[in-house]
Amino acid sequence: MKPNSPVWYPYTQMSEWREFDEIVKGKGMWLYDSHGNKLLDGVASMWCNVWGHSKKELISAIISQSKKLQHSSLFNLTNEPSEILAKKLVEISPYMNKVFYSDNGSTAMEISFKIALQYWRNIGKTKTTIATLENGYHGDTFGAMSVGYVPQFFSNFKNQLFRVIRTPVPVKYRIPGNSSYEEYQNYCLEKIEKLFSSNDKIAAYVMESGAQMAGGAVIFPKGFQQKISQLCKRFDVLLILDEIATGFGRLGSLVEYQTQKSIPDIVSYGKMLTGGYITMAATLTTKKIYDAFLGSFKEMKQFFHGHTFTGNPLAASVAIKNLELYEKSRLIKHVKKTSGVFEKRAREFHDMDLVGDVRFKGMLMGIELVKDKEKKIQLSGKKSINKMIFDEARKNKIYLRSLGNIIMLVPPLAISSNELNFLIDSTIKTIKGITGKVSN
Ligand SMILES: Cc1ncc(COP(=O)(O)O)c(C=O)c1O
Repeated sequence: MKPNSPVWYPYTQMSEWREFDEIVKGKGMWLYDSHGNKLLDGVASMWCNVWGHSKKELISAIISQSKKLQHSSLFNLTNEPSEILAKKLVEISPYMNKVFYSDNGSTAMEISFKIALQYWRNIGKTKTTIATLENGYHGDTFGAMSVGYVPQFFSNFKNQLFRVIRTPVPVKYRIPGNSSYEEYQNYCLEKIEKLFSSNDKIAAYVMESGAQMAGGAVIFPKGFQQKISQLCKRFDVLLILDEIATGFGRLGSLVEYQTQKSIPDIVSYGKMLTGGYITMAATLTTKKIYDAFLGSFKEMKQFFHGHTFTGNPLAASVAIKNLELYEKSRLIKHVKKTSGVFEKRAREFHDMDLVGDVRFKGMLMGIELVKDKEKKIQLSGKKSINKMIFDEARKNKIYLRSLGNIIMLVPPLAISSNELNFLIDSTIKTIKGITGKVSN
């Protein structure tokens, strides 16, 4: 707790929060505060932690790199870790050929939009509009807010955002009208097809890969992403995939777009790229895209973008070690196995009065809380539901950050079955604890 702290906290109504636990240590799945209390990290420190805290191999990678070179820029120079990492990223990412580094997910997505828009200019075509799935989230910078528009978050900036065309997303729990899930999926795909066939100015279609995370753990039905990918190819629209939160094993695959049988032109990674230890993100493109940026200097086809810490060697070296560990520890296999715990225990959530829907895949579970199970009316309150859930969860020794009425269980990927069971037990206690306390 820092009573007169000068820190302004993210996505937080500061008047409601007088105290913040000061985390002084992390070990394995646990975070320790300055009073020695421990909390199981149920959200992988905002969906990025892979191995738990204080993984010695990752710490060693940072220490040994920090003794050699802490930072030197990629403006006219290069460094070994960012070269090695790019090679590895291209190796694991089918169809991808080049890597553009940045510092976080939002900037990685800005880069993907800018590359797509400049690509069409460079090849002399007028394609200037971005289309996307409704309910997506791609970060908090202006481009990312324009594309991943969450009304509750971004309406203050609406007039400053650029125009984007949105097509509907099939949210199984909330299908409008009397359509079946299958019918609604087809409707969503037809909407995209109609858009592409009637508008030849669409430069790119943007979507999260496999599932929408901040949109509330909306898991895409089988074949949905693949069909969008096919439509993009058919109508010459670039497919930009966001794997910042869903790639690197979160949904049970190292590269989610491969599992989804989709072929992106541009894809972004972030969060778990460094095991969640140092901030870094990467935007990968195909050779076709990259080649369109080549030419004589005078043609001005080069990509006009770069950040101070682009390709930071400390971050790159920990990302290399992280990837090595994925292979050595067979982490993806582990995720698939522990994911069975979610499957086994989902029913327990379903049976609770306050729970309307439970969605899960890999190491992700979203639990949607409702006031009225029949009518599916969202749980809401005068005070932040998020705060209520956080406070109750803390009593049960877990750290949760919900998305309003949706509790997100997004633990570090290496969590054991026992620890995951603890997280689930404590989440059940938390939901019981807030039942009856929510007022309107
Ligand atoms: C799918 C997705 N894209 C982009 C971002 C933005 O990443 P960052 O917070 O690192 O800017 C997030 C963050 O949660 C995300 O979930």
